[in-house]
Amino acid sequence: MQKIFLNIVLFFFLSITSALEAEQAYCAKYEECREARWTDLKKTLFEDIDLKSGEGIIELTTPERAPDAAFVPISFKTHKLKNQDDFITKVHLVIDMNPSPYSGTFKFATNIDQIELATRIRLDAYSKVRVIAETKKGDYFMAANFVRGSGGCAAPPLGDLDNMIATAGKMKIKVKKIYLNDINNTIITTYKLIKEDYKSVYKRYEEIEIEYNKTIPEVAFKLHKTKDKQELKELLQESRDYYNNIKSQFNKEKDKNSLESTALFLFLAQHCFNGVYRENGKGEFNTPYNWECGVPNLKNKLELLKSYSRIFNEMHIEFFNTDCFSFMEEVLEKEDKILLYCDPPYLNLEIGENKYNKEHFGKHQQLELLNYYKRFNNVVFSNHFYELFENFCNENNFKYKKCYRKNIMSSKNETRSEKISEILAYKC
Ligand SMILES: C[S@@+](CC[C@H](N)C(=O)[O-])C[C@H]1O[C@@H](n2cnc3c(N)ncnc32)[C@H](O)[C@@H]1O
Repeated sequence: MQKIFLNIVLFFFLSITSALEAEQAYCAKYEECREARWTDLKKTLFEDIDLKSGEGIIELTTPERAPDAAFVPISFKTHKLKNQDDFITKVHLVIDMNPSPYSGTFKFATNIDQIELATRIRLDAYSKVRVIAETKKGDYFMAANFVRGSGGCAAPPLGDLDNMIATAGKMKIKVKKIYLNDINNTIITTYKLIKEDYKSVYKRYEEIEIEYNKTIPEVAFKLHKTKDKQELKELLQESRDYYNNIKSQFNKEKDKNSLESTALFLFLAQHCFNGVYRENGKGEFNTPYNWECGVPNLKNKLELLKSYSRIFNEMHIEFFNTDCFSFMEEVLEKEDKILLYCDPPYLNLEIGENKYNKEHFGKHQQLELLNYYKRFNNVVFSNHFYELFENFCNENNFKYKKCYRKNIMSSKNETRSEKISEILAYKC
């Protein structure tokens, strides 16, 4: 990926990876922001699992301050355990503020009564470093330390110290322009308005959240979202009606691409089931209410919108709202040196293709997209892992990697922990 330093880099669809990285580093300055990030990570990585205190089970040793954030020594050891069922089978390593927080899993044979392990990590920003030990019985124990250090993810692995200090925290990609395209006008309008006037967007969004909060009975906050689901459903009838009312208002407003529609959308994205954007055949947003009384930390939300706005402006991101094929024909073809990242709707041969909107992105469009990839010199694309894509890569000089992720978007609890295989392919 040497050629990543191109004159112009074009991101296609909703690819905001570098923006997110910068946002994390910015957010790392604030404790509340760091806490909110862990809350999100915990939910994504460990769902409802109870992470008990690791005291007496696992001990983590880290420096308080890391002079070389690209090379931070950490170690952990478990106490000698007597009961076979308590033996540790896996240790997960999570670094909250790193661009890829889930940093690794160590798997152990099932009959080891004590583990001691030392390694080195990279640290992108001030962050909690966590080790989460999984026992044979299925219990989870966590130890966490806060480590001060930054810039380690962008720094060379063992470069000279002066250079590392000089460049610490400055993660930069040399790009002239970033174009971001998605056919979904709501998403693009939201980004544009956040870029232009995040304060007004927030002000209206805050009003909607405050009104929503009033519909939640105090007692509901004490209940558990899965264990007390039925009781919550009874208590949150008014909140559900409020959500549905916002949904109707949004569907009437959404083609106006207004500040009002953006604020309504931010509310819906916060409270819809699984955070998924779904439209019916008429093009109306139709994701149901999530039946959770979780109200977001509004101060964090404001900080987040501010960060996005700063990133969109500083990185001069230009937004487009058109079909991908027209985007490639009309916008990209005119550009000279580009890197195209394409994150299309994923092909799903098992259950029929994903429908994000009323226009179907079927197998035919997927094949057409592959033909377009051939026209560009620098391309990255992702999709579900299928032989079709593997063959395409082999025939067209693309390198690729098979990756796995949890199925967190699944509507069914039982399939959410299943692993989904994806392809990440590139040609540079
Ligand atoms: C897999 S998602 C990518 C989302 C994004 N990269 C992210 O991480 O949030 C696919 C995106 O493709 C968009 N899309 C669907 N059909 C499209 C088309 N014909 N042209 C452009 N974008 C399309 C959808 O609106 C959706 O946001």
